[in-house]
Amino acid sequence: MITTLAFANYRSLRDLRLSVGRLTVITGANGTGKSNVYRALKLLVDAANGELARSLAREGGMPSAMWAGEESRRTRAKVDESQRLGIGFGDGLIAYQLRLGYAGPGNGAFSLDPEVKVETIRTLEKPKVNLLERHLASAVLRDYEGHPVTFGVTLDMYESVLSQLAEPHRYPVLSLLRERLRRWRFYHQIRTDSDSPVRALQIATRTPVLAHDGHDLAPALQTIRENGDGPGLADAIADAFDGARVSCEGNRGRFALRFHAKGVSRPLDAAELSDGTLRYLALLAALRSPRPPELFVLNEPETSLHPSLLAPLARQIIEAAKQSQVIVVSHAAPLVDAVAATRDAVRIELVKEEGATQVAGQERLDEPPWKWMS
Ligand SMILES: Nc1ncnc2c1ncn2[C@@H]1O[C@H](COP(=O)(O)OP(=O)(O)O)[C@@H](O)[C@H]1O
Ligand SMILES: [Mg+2]
Repeated sequence: MITTLAFANYRSLRDLRLSVGRLTVITGANGTGKSNVYRALKLLVDAANGELARSLAREGGMPSAMWAGEESRRTRAKVDESQRLGIGFGDGLIAYQLRLGYAGPGNGAFSLDPEVKVETIRTLEKPKVNLLERHLASAVLRDYEGHPVTFGVTLDMYESVLSQLAEPHRYPVLSLLRERLRRWRFYHQIRTDSDSPVRALQIATRTPVLAHDGHDLAPALQTIRENGDGPGLADAIADAFDGARVSCEGNRGRFALRFHAKGVSRPLDAAELSDGTLRYLALLAALRSPRPPELFVLNEPETSLHPSLLAPLARQIIEAAKQSQVIVVSHAAPLVDAVAATRDAVRIELVKEEGATQVAGQERLDEPPWKWMS
């Protein structure tokens, strides 16, 4: 289980350390940096998939991702440090960190491109070992026998080592970490406008994991019925929508979603459902996956849901946390309170001080230990 998250110089996350639990709810006023936490974690996963440069570019590139506020008193002495974006996590056994900076002069028109400056994996238990120590294009890794090996290939400076393992079997710890990261599941405001794929006919193939854009909602729901907890799903839908049920109709390799509401003479199809209903069905399909992930990260799942759905959503999130670690970012008090009232849930309230995101009431001494490598 992930226990620590650490961020440096990523947007408003100038220097933020979070202790997270099995079920964590991150809240705070608008603009305090909640979604930045979500984005930073997503960036780490994109990096493991070899999409670091592209993912950053989509969000406005390094100049937009780098902390743009005043230099902090702590880093003023080390100017270099304020030019390093960092994202990392620890799970009690290992700590992984990725540190980016500008490619800099010598890169022509691309001096503002990202470059991986440092990337490390360290064991946290004694004896402490660096399983990966990367500086720019060179890296030393531990192989399967624990011997340090200089990575034979010149690394692509713009991407994580994890995405460049040509012989993953030689580096089991790294390839395991890569596979773990790739399986973290992120859901953020599935598009529900009239042209969105969630409203269209969908390819009828077994779908144990809902795609992040929900384009396979109908097959995902059908897969839960056939391979997962079908009765539980039916109860959850009936509970949320006043006794309604959902079916999937197959036709020439496509599925159509049918929503049978009580007292409505014909079933409604996906094109006719409200944004809130579709989003909620997508959240159910995500959270009730027959193949639960190690980690779910949900960003503002309350968006466009009717307030009466917040309590049922909280129950679904709490249920999902029995199988997976869950981090939910939310602005909706009823959802936050219901989730946070669960035994062992961790509630984190973010605030902004001088433009930087901080944990309300967290003093330096309360922070989880974390050391950025340079
Ligand atoms: N590069 C940056 N440096 C400093 N602050 C930034 C940067 N990029 C965005 N921000 C700040 O992050 C805030 C938005 O954070 P966000 O996570 O979207 O908030 P919310 O808590 O509403 O989800 C904005 O207030 C913006 O000023
Ligand atoms: Mg937000």
